[in-house]
Amino acid sequence: MLSPEIIADKVTEAVASISYPEKPIGLYAPIAYTLESGGKRLRPQLTLAVCSALGCDVDRAIDAALGIEIFHNFTLLHDDVMDSADLRRGRLTVHKRWNNNTAILSGDAMLTMAVQYIAKTPAGVMPEAMKLFNRTAMEVYEGQQYDMDFENSNDVTVEQYIEMIRLKTSVLIGCACRLGAIVADASEDVADAFYDYGVNLGLAFQLRDDWLDTYGDPLIFGKQIGGDIINAKKTWLLINAISEKREELLDILAEDLEPEERVRQVREVYDRLNLSDRCRDLITKYSQKAISSLDKVKLDADAREYFVSLAQKSIDRAY
Ligand code: IPE
Ligand code: IPE
Ligand code: MG
Ligand code: MG
Ligand code: MG
Repeated sequence: MLSPEIIADKVTEAVASISYPEKPIGLYAPIAYTLESGGKRLRPQLTLAVCSALGCDVDRAIDAALGIEIFHNFTLLHDDVMDSADLRRGRLTVHKRWNNNTAILSGDAMLTMAVQYIAKTPAGVMPEAMKLFNRTAMEVYEGQQYDMDFENSNDVTVEQYIEMIRLKTSVLIGCACRLGAIVADASEDVADAFYDYGVNLGLAFQLRDDWLDTYGDPLIFGKQIGGDIINAKKTWLLINAISEKREELLDILAEDLEPEERVRQVREVYDRLNLSDRCRDLITKYSQKAISSLDKVKLDADAREYFVSLAQKSIDRAY
């Protein structure tokens, strides 16, 4: 398997090589602004890594990897409007730097760009790749709808939360992995194993994202801290706090508080209930589940190490 560094470099090069039409600048400048602002590039790296781990030339998977990364970035443009988020990757979000209409339309164009890249995957595997991509995209929208619906409910269960994050976040990470297997012409069993790896990694990943939204260092995380509490997002932390200190929490949420004060008070309840450590335990559980999924695939030691280490790092990632 190629080294992690080469895989990361291949993704960086591929994203840098995307060209944008010059006009209209109002449509394309925000797309370039977003795709050039970095991010971890987790999903395209996974596509190339799975492809490489299965002994296939990663150049066959570059278009699929780009399609997934562009789709992911498209969801962020719309998500930041929906979440009223002003900061991403340490920079102003598109709707803040420009406006909501720009975030909508440049986002739409990115969705189409993503489809165009998926359509460029090798002809023999393209129909399967496209089918998976489209199914996954619909699931992401479903997850985002639940995420918004849950803002208005104080009765969301942990089970419902896990299903919501499976849809909004995990299936895309699973899809990124499975695309690597599809391009490599892997058997259904191998594709399933990598999909399960990605989905469980994705659950750990979103739980950690929610944890970072409360406990992260804003300079490293690159996003506003406390946004989830301000929006009454039903994260694992808030759901458990509501279930264990219902009256106290509902009072805080109903009170007319300054945003920072609301964040401080909710966080104080989290701390009293030791929710930070308990959340980390759950993240560790999903990370281990991801690692167990790899048992169903025969992998070289370096390939196994790549996926195991990624799952382990997701437990304590800072951004
Ligand atoms: C952000 O995804 C959205 C979530 C699913 C939590 P990432 O944390 O992968 O964002 P970037 O691409 O690295 O900025
Ligand atoms: C994002 O969840 C999931 C998407 C499908 C975009 P969040 O709303 O928590 O992601 P961030 O924290 O804004 O990146
Ligand atoms: Mg958001
Ligand atoms: Mg969101
Ligand atoms: Mg978040």
